[in-house]
Amino acid sequence: MRTTRTQVGIVGAGPAGLLLSHLLHLDGIDSVVLESRGRSYVEQRVRAGVLEHGTTELLDQCGVGARMRAEGLVHHGIELRFERERHRVPLSELAGGRAITVYGQQEVVKDLIAARLGAGGSVLFDAECTAIDGSSPSSASISYRRDGEDEVLECDIVAGCDGFHGVTRSAAPEGTITALEHTHPFAWLGILAQVAPSTEELVYCRHESGFAMHSMRSAELSRLYLQVGPEEQLDAWPDERIWEELRTRFATGDGWALADGPVIEKGITAMKSFVVSPMQWGRVFLAGDSAHIVPPTGAKGMNLAIADVKALSRALVSWYASGDETLLDGYSASCLRRVWRAQEFSTYMTTMLHPLPGDDFGARLALSRLRYAVTSRAAGESLAENYVDLSSL
Ligand code: FAD
Ligand code: PHB
Repeated sequence: MRTTRTQVGIVGAGPAGLLLSHLLHLDGIDSVVLESRGRSYVEQRVRAGVLEHGTTELLDQCGVGARMRAEGLVHHGIELRFERERHRVPLSELAGGRAITVYGQQEVVKDLIAARLGAGGSVLFDAECTAIDGSSPSSASISYRRDGEDEVLECDIVAGCDGFHGVTRSAAPEGTITALEHTHPFAWLGILAQVAPSTEELVYCRHESGFAMHSMRSAELSRLYLQVGPEEQLDAWPDERIWEELRTRFATGDGWALADGPVIEKGITAMKSFVVSPMQWGRVFLAGDSAHIVPPTGAKGMNLAIADVKALSRALVSWYASGDETLLDGYSASCLRRVWRAQEFSTYMTTMLHPLPGDDFGARLALSRLRYAVTSRAAGESLAENYVDLSSL
């Protein structure tokens, strides 16, 4: 069995693992990223789209923001649509001038892979991690399988950036971490369609048949979502049924029309809220979706993953420079404050926008909350502040 060594062993080449590797490299710390999938798979996987203000600043500061600045769409507001009415929430005006940027997660991933490989970094694709040993006080190791061979990566620290279904979290010794979770009784069916967006800003729409959302990726690509049942299968949703349902839910009294086009990607995502605590044990640190999941209605998942690795890289830089463990010891507590704020905001957005069958009382509360958000400056400011940037918490 071949054994190699690095300073930080990183499991997973999503936004968290790749950015951590890049940030460590800028401070002279070596890492190896192990990714179970191939490069083209991770570069094509369609997921998040909204970058918070602080996320774009960080990507810029660390030298990987050029394409995002050139191609990303800067948005200063979102639309809340309910009772067939359209209401703009002027995010930037309400949140001290800050804006969000619409730029696909797979584009962030492509930019980070290019930066790591361009700098001679080690990102090993098709390398499936099978076991983590991080309980010893002085060293750690990751076992993985690549090209049919079992290999071991020895390291000082393991960063578990392997998403919700990864292996790192399950390597925690009994009793070291606990998980809290909530499963929402619906899912999102998402499509990517080759058609110019019918809106300039993101639309979050509550309709009695369910939530609908209109986002985008470029002037020619629209991203749309529909609330569906938790057990829904894609076969039940031919393209024409999806467009029909989107038209019904988005309908307004002012003649707004949804343009349709060829669907080039389609998927169903379950809605889950999940947090493990603490996000560390021994020499292992969890970051991103491996430690927490939020429902996507608040657009927070990737932003949280990026904020985690910003904190983790700072803590590691300080530890390698001086041996001081203060920041490493406080890593989990500092992240969890932001994670719980994001959980609360994502739950607020989710319950406000998704109807539950038979819950007429809940529906009246949600409509009142929506109307309050678009008529009260205080409520609008609170929504805008949470939506635009939690990274500095
Ligand atoms: P991941 O991106 O999941 O990366 C983990 C990596 O680890 C993967 O590449 C995986 O292949 C790899 N891996 C897993 N197991 C192993 C193993 N055993 N060995 C080696 N590698 C392994 N977030 C936002 O901020 N804004 C949004 O607008 C938004 N919209 C979303 C819309 C949808 C439909 C969905 C599904 C998510 C959305 N999110 C959004 C959430 C966001 O996509 C995730 O939070 C983000 O991907 C987390 O990044 P990560 O690096 O932690 O994990
Ligand atoms: C997306 O563009 O995919 C997107 C945007 C905002 C969300 C969720 C997803 O809240």
